[in-house]
Amino acid sequence: MVSFYSLYWALGLGLQAWGKTATKAVVLFGDSYTDQSRAHSISNGTFPGKNYQEVFPPADTAADGGVQWPWYLGLYGNYTIWNYAVGGAVCSNVLTPLFSVPDVIGGQTDWFIQDHISNNGTKHQKLDMDPSEFVVVIFIGTNDVGIHSFVTDDESPQVSLADLAGCQLQTIRNLYALGARRFIVNSLIPLQITRLYSNSSDPTIYFPTPHDGVAWNKRMFNFVHTMNALIRGGVAALSAEWRGTATVDVFDTYGFFEDMYNEPAKWFNGSIPANVTGHCHQCPDPNDFRQCGIGDCTLAERDSFMWWDELHPSEQTGRNLAREMWKKLTGASKY
Ligand SMILES: *[C@@H]1O[C@H](CO)[C@@H](O)[C@H](O)[C@H]1NC(C)=O
Ligand SMILES: *[C@@H]1O[C@H](CO)[C@@H](O)[C@H](O)[C@H]1NC(C)=O
Ligand SMILES: *[C@@H]1O[C@H](CO)[C@@H](O)[C@H](O)[C@H]1NC(C)=O
Ligand SMILES: *[C@@H]1O[C@H](CO)[C@@H](O)[C@H](O)[C@H]1NC(C)=O
Ligand SMILES: *[C@@H]1O[C@H](CO)[C@@H](O)[C@H](O)[C@H]1NC(C)=O
Ligand SMILES: *[C@@H]1O[C@H](CO)[C@@H](O)[C@H](O)[C@H]1NC(C)=O
Repeated sequence: MVSFYSLYWALGLGLQAWGKTATKAVVLFGDSYTDQSRAHSISNGTFPGKNYQEVFPPADTAADGGVQWPWYLGLYGNYTIWNYAVGGAVCSNVLTPLFSVPDVIGGQTDWFIQDHISNNGTKHQKLDMDPSEFVVVIFIGTNDVGIHSFVTDDESPQVSLADLAGCQLQTIRNLYALGARRFIVNSLIPLQITRLYSNSSDPTIYFPTPHDGVAWNKRMFNFVHTMNALIRGGVAALSAEWRGTATVDVFDTYGFFEDMYNEPAKWFNGSIPANVTGHCHQCPDPNDFRQCGIGDCTLAERDSFMWWDELHPSEQTGRNLAREMWKKLTGASKY
């Protein structure tokens, strides 16, 4: 791969210079925890391609019930946001095929190539951004380990959690080969504290049949911790291998969510006391999605909730995440 930027690196203009270069853009890959509207565009028949324009409320709402966190990150840090996440996505459709929407290692990376690499596949391949001026954030894994996959024993007998973590690291290598040099991998959140993966066996809109909630809850705790240990180890190894020619770091989403959960009053500011166990959006009959919305919290109450629904963080949680990620990008976050 010959490009302007490989020459740049060959000249040894390393990371030391980066302290002075401001981050101008953030490129995100992921699932419904990050997607603004791509999944809805796909189901809408308006397939997102090159230069896709995201659709914001009121025309379309993200899975947090409003505006998704990357938009806030762009606002707080004055960054251009390239958000390639798709609701329902996994790291690899080969490993854990679920909804077959564009995956992080495949279709989402292809969108990045279409938007940012000219002469793809030739020796004149060129990245249209300065690698010191953009950061790649990968935030994936929730669906990979979730229902209709690992937690329900529906994964392929040939696939392990190590493969899922390996996919995230391989995606980073692929993007490195395309010229990206700064990476952040978000760890999985404590999924065991969501309603869907709580110890309750009651049906939910996402899984409207009885199940062994206590078992799911313990399995999910195990999956998330194992994934995060694998990711952490892999990132440390990659970082050592690159020895300063590129940076890769973990954002401790797990720890950050745990802290919000444990100190709700600090983070949630709607009109009622902070609520980190329930959720705003209600579906009174788990077998009838058309009733979803009946019994929702009010707009004024919304920012009191950590969760929008049984699985998704709320918009206020997203603002908190965006603020902390902004701190991370400016070197001032403990996560
Ligand atoms: C759904 O399709 C219409 C055009 O038919 C478009 O204007 C709208 O933005 C689409 N919604 C999403 C989320 O893409
Ligand atoms: C925001 O970023 C743009 C483009 O990078 C830059 O031109 C502008 O001066 C920045 N604004 C502020 C307030 O920093
Ligand atoms: C980029 O080029 C490679 C090699 O020719 C090809 O396999 C891939 O599909 C191309 N990707 C996109 C997004 O065009
Ligand atoms: C479920 O978890 C709650 C705390 O979150 C605990 O009080 C309760 O005893 C647990 N129930 C079962 C059946 O384990
Ligand atoms: C809560 O705080 C956020 C900033 O994190 C702010 O944008 C939002 O408007 C506040 N919500 C309410 C209901 O005051
Ligand atoms: C939290 O919200 C749920 C609604 O999902 C409600 O049932 C529950 O009582 C609330 N908990 C607290 C402590 O207010």
